[in-house]
Amino acid sequence: MGVDLKSSYSSSAHGSEIEFQIPMSFFYRLAFTEGVFETSNPLLADYLSDQGNRENPTQVLLFLDQGLHECQPQLYSQIQNYFKFQQKLISLESPPILIRGGEAAKNEKEIFDTILQAIHDAKICRHSYVVVVGGGGVVDAVCFAASLVHRGVRQIRIPSTVLAQGDAGIGIKNGINYFNKKNFLGTFYPPDAVINDSRLLLSLDQQSWISGIAEAIKVGLIRDGELFFWILENATSLRNRDLATMQKLVRRSAELHLRQISQGGDPFEKGSVRPLDFGHWVAHKLEALSNYLIPHGHAVAIGIAVDSIYSWRKGFLPPEQLTLILKCLEEIGFNFREPLLLETNPDNGRRAILEGIDEFREHLGGELTLSLLTEIGRSFEVHEIDEVGMISAIAELMEKS
Ligand SMILES: NC(=O)c1ccc[n+]([C@@H]2O[C@H](COP(=O)([O-])OP(=O)(O)OC[C@H]3O[C@@H](n4cnc5c(N)ncnc54)[C@H](O)[C@@H]3O)[C@@H](O)[C@H]2O)c1
Ligand SMILES: [Zn+2]
Repeated sequence: MGVDLKSSYSSSAHGSEIEFQIPMSFFYRLAFTEGVFETSNPLLADYLSDQGNRENPTQVLLFLDQGLHECQPQLYSQIQNYFKFQQKLISLESPPILIRGGEAAKNEKEIFDTILQAIHDAKICRHSYVVVVGGGGVVDAVCFAASLVHRGVRQIRIPSTVLAQGDAGIGIKNGINYFNKKNFLGTFYPPDAVINDSRLLLSLDQQSWISGIAEAIKVGLIRDGELFFWILENATSLRNRDLATMQKLVRRSAELHLRQISQGGDPFEKGSVRPLDFGHWVAHKLEALSNYLIPHGHAVAIGIAVDSIYSWRKGFLPPEQLTLILKCLEEIGFNFREPLLLETNPDNGRRAILEGIDEFREHLGGELTLSLLTEIGRSFEVHEIDEVGMISAIAELMEKS
């Protein structure tokens, strides 16, 4: 991070003012590798010891997603061996700390306390590192905690799901859920590096395997029609777990995601425009309505379908393109028949899913801004939603499935 301080002075009848400008730029690396904890792979040790000439090895605390640990139990000792092998450069301050994976990591206060306690016990300072290996849930929770301790300690992320490698784990946001609201607490805090190891993906169940493809379809729809058509063409290979095809998807999706953050002009989301959140007002509300039983990517797939049908109903999106979008989502294996879309809030008689629009606006602040599609690869912003039209779009989706 480079900080350059400039100031200017002015005065008026009401007082005087000093104006400061603090330009900041963040630099971090996103690496793609296989076998990050193989002793023959120096990448992680290099990143962790990259801060000049240290007299002592860099202190590291490592959090490991328990779901990943259960599917790849050999990782635990492999990680310890790796640190032993690289002990001149890096020191693991405790055995890997297992954190319950999935949305539990973001929902349960005890888990958050466990993370903070471990960082405290290991005396992690701002020259030490927190490393997190896991899905978006564990990465979000650990990175949030690490961003708070000492106002932010260094962190390296090793995401272990398709969704986390192409989207959740590579950006600059983190967070946990609170008051039953998605990401109610969180910070913008760039990692020092992200390492995507495709071998970690091999143990994902089918649900998590396809979950991340929804985010790639989303980014294709709003930014890169070529990516969307590539996914459509390769839907069978992707669904059938061809690793080389998945590696390409993750890489492209990650690139587009980081391009939006680094070149989109609003990395800290001060404005109201959030194109990467296409389909997410439905997704976040559905996740909460299901008590987080519906995985994020599956909720995103439904959100994409709803907002695409709405885009077509309003005359923005050509019908043949809508057909391709729904076909692509279905071929990957997503299911749209979700009864929670039809649930009514007993307190006010309103369709519960529509409250997602209010919550989305509340989360962003300012004017409601949602993305819709004019064609595959191109989105635009709207500031109001016709609720009757939206209910019809949902009805249509339910009929189609
Ligand atoms: N910070 C951001 O910018 C951002 C962006 C998008 C999504 N997210 C968040 O990411 C979360 C979803 O993350 P996710 O889709 O990665 O899933 P997840 O973290 O919820 O994990 C799903 C399940 O897979 C298990 N798991 C993880 N890696 C595994 C592996 N390699 N093999 C076997 N099992 C494994 C986990 O233990 C868990 O049970 C949501 O909370 C979402 O809000 C954050
Ligand atoms: Zn998402």
